Amino acid sequence: MKNRESILEIKNLQTSFFTEDGEVKAVDGVTLHVPKGQTLGVVGESGSGKSIMSLSILRLIQKPGKIVGGQILFNGQDLVTKKEKEMRKIRGNQISMIFQEPMTSLNPVYTVGEQIAEAVQVHQNLNKRDSMAKSVEMLKLVGIPSPEKRVHQYPFELSGGMRQRVMIAMALACNPDLLIADEPTTALDVTIQAQILELIKELQQKLDMSVIMITHDLGVVAETCDYVAVMYCGSVVEYSDVQTLFSNPKHPYTVGLLNSLPRHDIDQDELEAIKGSVPSPTEMPKGCRFAPRCPHARDICIDRLPELTKVDEQSQIRCWIYTDEWKDQGEVNLQSEERTIEG
Ligand SMILES: Nc1ncnc2c1ncn2[C@@H]1O[C@H](COP(=O)(O)OP(=O)(O)O)[C@@H](O)[C@H]1O
Ligand SMILES: [Mg+2]
Repeated sequence: MKNRESILEIKNLQTSFFTEDGEVKAVDGVTLHVPKGQTLGVVGESGSGKSIMSLSILRLIQKPGKIVGGQILFNGQDLVTKKEKEMRKIRGNQISMIFQEPMTSLNPVYTVGEQIAEAVQVHQNLNKRDSMAKSVEMLKLVGIPSPEKRVHQYPFELSGGMRQRVMIAMALACNPDLLIADEPTTALDVTIQAQILELIKELQQKLDMSVIMITHDLGVVAETCDYVAVMYCGSVVEYSDVQTLFSNPKHPYTVGLLNSLPRHDIDQDELEAIKGSVPSPTEMPKGCRFAPRCPHARDICIDRLPELTKVDEQSQIRCWIYTDEWKDQGEVNLQSEERTIEG
């Protein structure tokens, strides 16, 4: 699985918020890698730490938040220890990000052309005329019709889908090596969603970029990703290639997510949603974070946190089931598999 060179390798990343109620471990031991020129999907329920992980990569975590541990190796260099001045060169230039809500990221008082031109000027040292020409070129690249006319329009004159295309144009203006797309289509309606995802995929191939596609939607993962990291409570519980994730999911949480997907062949009432709810961030279970909801949990799961472990060529899993400790217990403990779930 690691044959392909990685553009980004995150090792045991920890980002916490120091609040009045105590330390909130928003990202608590994320380990993953993004193979060069590929798309990694990061999937997980709301609150699982996806956005805080992305902002950590760009070192945009604000107080009371702080990266408290781990490494973020970008082309082998650790971003965690970089000076702010060096990070400014990396942001937008080598790593770009697009967010869920384009309206809040675009400035309403400037035309879209001026905004793309500014993004270009800052990083590429072009004069005004050349950077406007570059803006037109970028709008064309992201499939905006009549780009010569559109460059002079303001964000409010564009539809949501067109605004998201403008955001993508801005993010790509400097030819980043890595694009982080944080739920880029969540605010858009379904048809436009599909178009934007298709666009990102097309550009990823054309520009040979690496992409981190953050989503809570497994459908998006299936459509766009090569590899997948499944997050639960701030850490990665399963990492595998996309075919394996869907054909042979291993972590009980991933299995639960897949079972709760709407399917055509069974009645909606029979859908197996995952029982229980996500633990509160200040009251994390000491063992496996998923143990209180897991149908297979044994004592070891409740007592001790498993590590993310390579189980075969395709997958890394953070679950006791795939360890020797589990096998050593044999079948004796099967009773406790029927442990009832509270809450
Ligand atoms: N400013 C903040 N102060 C305290 N906790 C925060 C703050 N921002 C995020 N968090 C915590 O980090 C967790 C992960 O958030 P986030 O990364 O936004 O989740 P996701 O993007 O997966 O929905 C949240 O559950 C929340 O508890
Ligand atoms: Mg988020």
